[in-house]
Amino acid sequence: MLKIGIIGCGKITEVRHAPEYADNPNCELVAFFDEIPGRAEGYANKYGGKAYESIEELLKSGVDAVSVCVANVAHASISIQALEAGVHVLCEKPMATTLADCEAMVAAAEKSGKFLMIGQNQRFARAHVKARELIVTGEIGDIRTFRTTFGHPGPEGWTGSANSWFFDKKRAAFGAMADLGVHKTDLLHFLLGDVITEVTAQIATLDKKYPDNTPVDVDDNAYCIYRTQNGIVGTMHVSWTFYGEEDNSTILYGSEGVIRCYNDPEYSLIVEKKNGDRIFYRLDQLTSNKEQTTGGRTNTGVIDTFVESLRTNTPPAVSGSEAIKAMRAIFAAEESAQTHRTIQVIQG
Ligand SMILES: NC(=O)c1ccc[n+]([C@@H]2O[C@H](COP(=O)([O-])OP(=O)(O)OC[C@H]3O[C@@H](n4cnc5c(N)ncnc54)[C@H](O)[C@@H]3O)[C@@H](O)[C@H]2O)c1
Repeated sequence: MLKIGIIGCGKITEVRHAPEYADNPNCELVAFFDEIPGRAEGYANKYGGKAYESIEELLKSGVDAVSVCVANVAHASISIQALEAGVHVLCEKPMATTLADCEAMVAAAEKSGKFLMIGQNQRFARAHVKARELIVTGEIGDIRTFRTTFGHPGPEGWTGSANSWFFDKKRAAFGAMADLGVHKTDLLHFLLGDVITEVTAQIATLDKKYPDNTPVDVDDNAYCIYRTQNGIVGTMHVSWTFYGEEDNSTILYGSEGVIRCYNDPEYSLIVEKKNGDRIFYRLDQLTSNKEQTTGGRTNTGVIDTFVESLRTNTPPAVSGSEAIKAMRAIFAAEESAQTHRTIQVIQG
């Protein structure tokens, strides 16, 4: 039985990591830590295991792996500390707040021989998995272009705070761009089996304000034109200012048809063929932030995939060296927005 610790006991631990580890028969939750006193104890009381007073102590307790579920700025230092202590890591997205930190995480994983996985859950959503299968079998020919969107009303509803760390540039580094953009950028890499090599972006703070009515420190909207190594060109829009229903859709346009993922309330995947045929798939629907904060939950697949990779000693599906490719595109988008230029992404 794999022994799991969780570092950072906030919302994502409450709605995903803790319940999904608890549901997995191959592991047990044995250790919790949070910098806010009392939070870890709450989880130890609910799930069993022990609350620790420091990360060092938790890492020495005999855990096989930890989830790193803290604010973005601490992802790299805590993940590296755990890897250096000989503990496997599942780190939440965005991987880290600088490219140098992302690279240091990959290097620490390689040096330690332990696994580093990043929580890019969009890859495991059923319509995305099916879309990838259909692309590989040539259902819509060669992909020419795409449009992907991730928009919701912002992190206030998620954290329950009008002034959360998500708005603090020092702790979050980015706003919607890295919070949501990294999901869709990683998803594009998965769906297209390709890698983004050129970015033109506009990143803006259009609406979000602190309670004193001053604009938040980070972006609330980002628009990217991405070009891939194989010459596919498409757009990504991510937003914290969609004050209606969440939009989490991706549409892929191929030489022989179109695939629509999560773009219809009933059918999570629709294939439209060039000859007019339409095929409808009723797979899962993605759980919105709103549904998760009110108790709705579907298994993300991230935790089960991580546990399975540990159990079978197989490298995880979204390793650090895979996830860093999306981070390179995100940092390039930031540079593009600042310089008003198209930026080449050097993909290692
Ligand atoms: N995969 C997803 O779709 C998804 C969704 C939401 C959040 N996230 C990510 O999960 C992470 C946590 O987000 P959240 O929504 O749970 O935030 P949160 O504020 O609810 O929880 C973060 C917790 O970490 C603790 N913490 C922060 N810095 C720490 C440190 N240095 N040491 C120990 N504890 C520390 C805080 O006290 C808090 O309890 C973020 O990186 C976020 O981007 C991912």
